[in-house]
Amino acid sequence: MQSYRWDSEDYERHSRSQQLWATELIAKLSLVGTETLLDIGCGDGKVTAEIARILDRGSVTGIDNSPSMIELAQKRHPAHGFANLSFSLLDAVDLAGEPSLASRFDVVFSNAALHWVKDHRPVVDGIASALAPGGKLLLQMGGRGNGRVVVEILDELLASDRFTPYFEDFTFPYGFLGVEDYEALLAGAGFVDRRVELIDKDMVHDGKEGLSGWIRTTWLPYTQRIPEAQRDAFIDLVASAYLRRVPLDAEGRAHVAMVRLEVEAKKQYHA
Ligand SMILES: C[S@@+](CC[C@H](N)C(=O)[O-])C[C@H]1O[C@@H](n2cnc3c(N)ncnc32)[C@H](O)[C@@H]1O
Repeated sequence: MQSYRWDSEDYERHSRSQQLWATELIAKLSLVGTETLLDIGCGDGKVTAEIARILDRGSVTGIDNSPSMIELAQKRHPAHGFANLSFSLLDAVDLAGEPSLASRFDVVFSNAALHWVKDHRPVVDGIASALAPGGKLLLQMGGRGNGRVVVEILDELLASDRFTPYFEDFTFPYGFLGVEDYEALLAGAGFVDRRVELIDKDMVHDGKEGLSGWIRTTWLPYTQRIPEAQRDAFIDLVASAYLRRVPLDAEGRAHVAMVRLEVEAKKQYHA
C-alpha cells in the first residue's frame, strides 16, 4: 500500500476542518470513558488525544502508515503525559495480520483517512478481527462526489501540456465509495446494525491562503508528482481556478462542497 510523504507539521497547522468534523464524529460515539478504542489513520494524533481525554478509564491506540505522522503524534503526546494513549506505524490494510490487536477493541474509529485506501475489503476484515464481540465501528471518510470541483480542476490541469508529462500512468488515487459499496463490505464481514450514509459537508477555509494550505497538505497524490520548484505554482493555479468558480464569501472565506461517507456498524456477539 502506497504511503505519501505527509508533512505532518504542515498538516497539523492546516487541519482545522478535519478536527472539527472529528469532534462531531466523536460525539456520536457516546463514549462512557472505559472503552478501548482504535483510531485508524490517526495522523498527527490530536484527534486521538481528544478521544483519550474522554476515555480517562480506557485506552486509545492510533495507527497510521505515515512515519512522519506517527513521529509527530508520539512527540506531541509522550507516554508520561498521556498514559492511556499510544501510536503505531501500521497500514489499515494490514490490521488483520496483527495478532496483538485481535479482538482487543470496543470501538474502531476513523476520521478523514480511509478514502486513501482503494480496496476496503482488507480494511473491513481487519476491523472485524480487531473488534471484540459486540464492539462497534464508526468511520467517516471522503465519499462519492467528494470535492468534485477540485477534482474537475485537477483533471483539467493534468490534461494541459504543462503538466501531462508528470502524470503518466496516473489513476484516480482515492477510494471515494458509495453507500452500496460499504453496505456490501460490511454485510460480507458479518457486521450488524449497519448505517451507511453520504453526508454533504461545507468545508470552510480562511481565504486563498487557507485553501492553498489544505491543497498543499492533503492532495499529495497530485502535488507530489510536480517537481518541487513548480509545486507552489501548481497549488496556486488550483486555488485560483477554484476561487474563480466558487468565489470567496463576504467574510473572505473559501467554501468547498465535500461529501463524507459515514459508516456505523456492530460486530455480532456470536458469528
Ligand atoms: C487527512 S489525515 C487525517 C488524520 C486524522 N484522522 C484527522 O482527523 O486529523 C489522513 C491520514 O490517513 C493516513 N492514511 C492514509 N492511508 C492510510 C493507510 N492505508 N493506513 C493507515 N493510515 C493511512 C495518512 O497517513 C494521514 O495521516
